[in-house]
Amino acid sequence: MRKKFIAGNWKMNTSRAEGIALAAAIAAKVGSSASVDVAVCPPSLYLEAIGQAIKGSAVGLGAQSCYHEAKGAFTGEISPQMLVDLGCKYVILGHSERRQIFRETNQDVNRKVLAALAAGLVPIMCVGETLAERQANQTSQVVRGQMEGSLAGLSPDQVLKTVIAYEPVWAIGTGVVATPEQAEEVHADLRKLLETRYTSEVASKIRIQYGGSVNAENAATLLGQPNIDGALVGGASLKADSFLAIISATAS
Ligand code: PGA
Repeated sequence: MRKKFIAGNWKMNTSRAEGIALAAAIAAKVGSSASVDVAVCPPSLYLEAIGQAIKGSAVGLGAQSCYHEAKGAFTGEISPQMLVDLGCKYVILGHSERRQIFRETNQDVNRKVLAALAAGLVPIMCVGETLAERQANQTSQVVRGQMEGSLAGLSPDQVLKTVIAYEPVWAIGTGVVATPEQAEEVHADLRKLLETRYTSEVASKIRIQYGGSVNAENAATLLGQPNIDGALVGGASLKADSFLAIISATAS
C-alpha cells in the first residue's frame, strides 16, 4: 500500500537558529528509519543548515519553490539543480500562496514540475479551491483543472514520481480544517482523474496529501481516510511536538 508522507511547510518562518533547533528536535525523535516518509521544507536560505541538522535521520529535505530553468539570468531565482546540490529530495510546487500572491499559473507550475523531475526531485504539487469556488460547486472542476494543467505532458512514470497535495485555500492557515469526508471526496475524485488520464497503476500508487489546518488533534481522522496518504502541514510543523504528533497519527 501507499506509504504515508508527512511534510512540514515552514513557509517564511523561523530564524536560522530556530530552524536548526526545530529540525534537530524532529530528527532526534524520528531517528534513522521511519515507517512513514517525513520531510521538512524550510526557507531556501536555510536549506544547507537544516540539511546538516537532519543528517543521518530519516527526515528528508524539501524546498518550497524553484524556477524551471537550470541556470542563467533569472535574478532572485533558484534552480532545481541547486536544490539537489544542497541535498533536497522534494520541492513544493504550485502552493496556493504561490498561485495567488505570486500569480503562478498552471503553465508555470507545469514547467517547474517538469524541471524538478528532470533534476531528480520529487515535486509535491498542490491544488485546491477557494471558498467561493466551493460554494459555487466548482471544487471538482477547479482541482481537476489545476491537476491536468500542472501535470500536462508528464509520462505515467513521471506522474508516479510526483506527490499531489490537496489544499483547500479556505482551510490554509485558518484553523478551519476540511472535514475528513470533504477531503476524502476530493482525494477520491483526483484519483479517479489519474486513472482516466494515466493508468490504474498510477492512480493506485500516487500519494495524495491533505493540507490546510492539519494539527495534532485532527490528523488521525484525516489520515484514516482511504485516499488520504499524508499531510502537508504549515503552522503545526513549526513546533516539534505538534509535527511529531502528526507523524505518530499515521500509525493510529
Ligand atoms: P496550514 O498550512 O497547515 O498552516 O493551514 C498548510 C499549507 O499551506 O501547506
